[in-house]
Amino acid sequence: MSNADNRPRFYLTTPIYYANARPHVGSAYTTLVADTVARFKRMQGYDVAFLTGTDEHGENIARAAAKAGVSPRQHVDRYSAVFRNLWNELGISYTHFIRTTSLEHLRAVRRLLLRARDAGYVYKGFYQGRYCVYDNLYVSDSTDPIDCPVCGRPAEVVSEENYFFKLSAFQERLLQLYESQPDFIRPAFRRNEVQRFVEAGLRDISVSRKTVKWGLPWPDDPEHVVYVWYDALTSYLSGIGYGDDELQWEKYWPAQLHLIGKEIIRFHCVYWPAFLMAADEPLPKGVFAHGWLLFEQQKMSKSKGNVAYAEPIARTVGVDALRYYLLRDVPFGQDGNFSHDALLTRYNSDLANGLGNLASRTLAMIEQYCGGVVPNPSAGTSTLAMPLRNGIWEVAGNPEANLPGYYNQLDFSRALESIWRSISHVDHYLVEKKPWALAKDSANQAQIEAVLYEAAEALRIILILSHPVLPRATQRIWEQFGWQGRVEDQRIDRLDWGQLNSGSTVTKGEAVFPRVEHTETLEKIAAMEQEILKPQGTPATPSAPAAAPAAQPAAAAATPPPAPNAKIGIDDFSKVEMRVGQVKSAERVAGADKLLKVMVDVGDEVRQIVAGIATVYQPEQLVGRKVVVVVNLQPRKLRGVESNGMIVAASVGPEGKPVLAGFLEDVPVGSRLK
Ligand code: MSP
Repeated sequence: MSNADNRPRFYLTTPIYYANARPHVGSAYTTLVADTVARFKRMQGYDVAFLTGTDEHGENIARAAAKAGVSPRQHVDRYSAVFRNLWNELGISYTHFIRTTSLEHLRAVRRLLLRARDAGYVYKGFYQGRYCVYDNLYVSDSTDPIDCPVCGRPAEVVSEENYFFKLSAFQERLLQLYESQPDFIRPAFRRNEVQRFVEAGLRDISVSRKTVKWGLPWPDDPEHVVYVWYDALTSYLSGIGYGDDELQWEKYWPAQLHLIGKEIIRFHCVYWPAFLMAADEPLPKGVFAHGWLLFEQQKMSKSKGNVAYAEPIARTVGVDALRYYLLRDVPFGQDGNFSHDALLTRYNSDLANGLGNLASRTLAMIEQYCGGVVPNPSAGTSTLAMPLRNGIWEVAGNPEANLPGYYNQLDFSRALESIWRSISHVDHYLVEKKPWALAKDSANQAQIEAVLYEAAEALRIILILSHPVLPRATQRIWEQFGWQGRVEDQRIDRLDWGQLNSGSTVTKGEAVFPRVEHTETLEKIAAMEQEILKPQGTPATPSAPAAAPAAQPAAAAATPPPAPNAKIGIDDFSKVEMRVGQVKSAERVAGADKLLKVMVDVGDEVRQIVAGIATVYQPEQLVGRKVVVVVNLQPRKLRGVESNGMIVAASVGPEGKPVLAGFLEDVPVGSRLK
């Protein structure tokens, strides 16, 4: 057995998103938080399974498809890809993606349902009441008019023969569960709410629908489809192989953590454990329900027209800035206001002036006073080390005991607050020691080196501690210091002062968080939002990049497109040979922040291509991905590295950010595009 198999396991999930509309910052929130937890757990040595996916059945989806004039299948294919593309663009490190229209999911739902039925918990009955098709919620068992408590829309009358689930049989066991595992529902105030709801008595719920056609057929009664929440919740099992790949399922189930928004707590903390109990399957270890991101005082939601999207933010100030802002400004678990203005203020103060500035200053001083090589600690007096070391330990807390604790409790704002206190501590230390003043006398060289060693060591620790929240930026700064390996491979729980390997050569490079001009950036974001909201920008563009300009470095991307009415003949077009390629490996091009060197299998050979996509795509995200390659371009050199071909991407927004072209269907490598 390899070492990897001995690692402890951690399975966490996001809700699966309705494949119905383009995700906004509110929907990205749960996923960004889950990604932070996944990265943190990996840095603690866990083998992490991280599931996300799309919820693709139900009346709501069927109606939206009809409105868009497409079949439900086309509709969900399109939007599932939109979600996946966004998670890829945002660098989400999910390991599993489940679609509820997949066959493996169908098998899992049948299995769970039949186990519950065979145990006597499913029976046929007659349902009459009010149902909200938007939230898939049985709102009332009376037909009296009532609004949905979640979205406020009028609930509709349903009256039909259904299969019922004996939820009432689980009241005692559920209460025992909340009692014996206080962490099953977090935060604690939400547990109290759920407890009160269950104590008030549980009624059986309908788990099939006859009127809905777009759903999973009931196992032996195809006139019915499975209730969409029974279907959706089972994705947490099907996503890791339930009833399909038992070894994998046994490896990861039960989930350690379901991360959800507060409005779906009843489904996760009452229905879901009851469905599992009925089928005699183990229960998840815990559910954490976070609050809502409010925008203009209301829950961000497309139907209310008050949405902000993640892409414009990611493409102007970077996805790390969005992560930092959300995790720092909104105490996790509570509602929080989202504002672009506050985000940019945080960006400039904490990232550009805070971490970014500390890193650039330290790098610049190492270049200037130490010949660009991270100095050795023994060069200075060891007593100098103590104030900074002690200071960092005091403010960041001994990371061994404290910071992982904050992350473990999902108290991200406290974790970041303490890391940022240590950043200002290092700032003060440099101001106090003044290497620039010491440099006036060459007799002080050893002292300068000791000070800069200290600062670099403090930064090394700060980068590791903040990596789960700032995965891209910390890696880039790490590389600027010339440190080997990847930040994600460092153990966050085994940090110790003095582990820095001196002697690496620094490359200051571009600022990782350049300061931005407030108004101008707000305008840029607003323009990109408009672009997204345009009808043609919604579903089709992310996955239909046929005529998009190539992801070449900035210079090439800036070439003006031909005049709109300058037509070319088919002969001209056929001169361009495009093929489906598959990325074998990818790495950054040293000293060029935008470039990746990508090895691409184009069918008959593996080509080396340099692509200007590094600001948006992480090298490891690309491996295995199918891309479109122009194969008959003249080879050329970029930053001294030969590029033999071009990877095609859409160029989006005024910044021309690259979004790779791809296919919804699986296409063989080497196929020609015509
Ligand atoms: N499909 C169901 C979940 C099934 S899980 C077995 C669903 N989908 S959803 O797309 O409506 O919402 C998914 C997640 O996005 C929820 O956790 C929800 O709270 C989150 N958010 C959507 N808008 C949000 C905000 N404005 N703020 C914070 N989170 C929000 O429910």
